[in-house]
Amino acid sequence: MQFKKIIHAIGMCGSLLLAACNNDSHNTNQNSDTQKALQPIVIQGALPVESEQMAAKLTNATVETVGGWKFWKGTYQGYPVIISKTRMGMSNAAAATAIAIERYKPIAIINQGTSGGHDPELKVYDIVLGRYTTNIGAFRTPKKALGEGSNALEWNEAFDVLPDDESDPEPIAIRKFEADAELLTAAHRAQNNYTQGNVVEGTIGSADVWNNELDRIAFFHKNYATSVEEMEAASVAQIASQFKVPFLGIRVLSNNITNGGAYDAGTGEACQHYVLDVVVEYMKAKQAALK
Ligand code: 5AD
Repeated sequence: MQFKKIIHAIGMCGSLLLAACNNDSHNTNQNSDTQKALQPIVIQGALPVESEQMAAKLTNATVETVGGWKFWKGTYQGYPVIISKTRMGMSNAAAATAIAIERYKPIAIINQGTSGGHDPELKVYDIVLGRYTTNIGAFRTPKKALGEGSNALEWNEAFDVLPDDESDPEPIAIRKFEADAELLTAAHRAQNNYTQGNVVEGTIGSADVWNNELDRIAFFHKNYATSVEEMEAASVAQIASQFKVPFLGIRVLSNNITNGGAYDAGTGEACQHYVLDVVVEYMKAKQAALK
């Protein structure tokens, strides 16, 4: 009798647990159906002059600092936005990107800021939408003996740091990261609002180098079809591609020594202004697609 009661009790418990379990999963499904909120978009700038103006425009902003990297979380025109100050260079940009992706699960990433012109047709204040972004700091050099010197114009083999075939220790190829099509479309929709220069598609070249040799710049323009150079976008594109997060690089020319274009610090602000318009266009389209 006693034994039967216990078995019965265990049976009841089991079915109750099962019911609770079913209920839980049912609730979870219901929540994800009704919660059709967008994930935030991350906008990066290396320097304070490339990020703080956007951060100041966020509503209900809070700040998070992870390691040496600062993130402002808030909304812009109702859309969730994270402004990330990456600091300069490829390693900083990669770290800030990986942290942002893991922490905020962004819908997309835009890397923006200033750059130096490689294309003599482009003027200071023009903006390049990076249809392609490529690393211009990775090479296998020719072999030369001691005393034979070094000539960067002979570095004709680009080193691909993300080859499909991981068994090849010396993969030689120019790797170009292609912009996300929806981000590019949003950038074009916003371009009529930008009056300080032209907005064009092109190739952004990145490395931890500021090139001031005109022959070197011409080398990249010819062999990599670079429109501009800077120090972060290709690193961000590489990390974003590994996580399959949509990416676009947007770079304003702050200087262009190929045509005498002198450095203008005001370009960083102009670019931030334009990029916020791009964000609204992109998030608006994403929001409409949810409905
Ligand atoms: N070469 C390299 N980086 C440049 N930047 C602006 N102009 C250039 C240039 N001509 C950007 C980089 C870096 C900082 C030095 O400004 O992306 O963050």
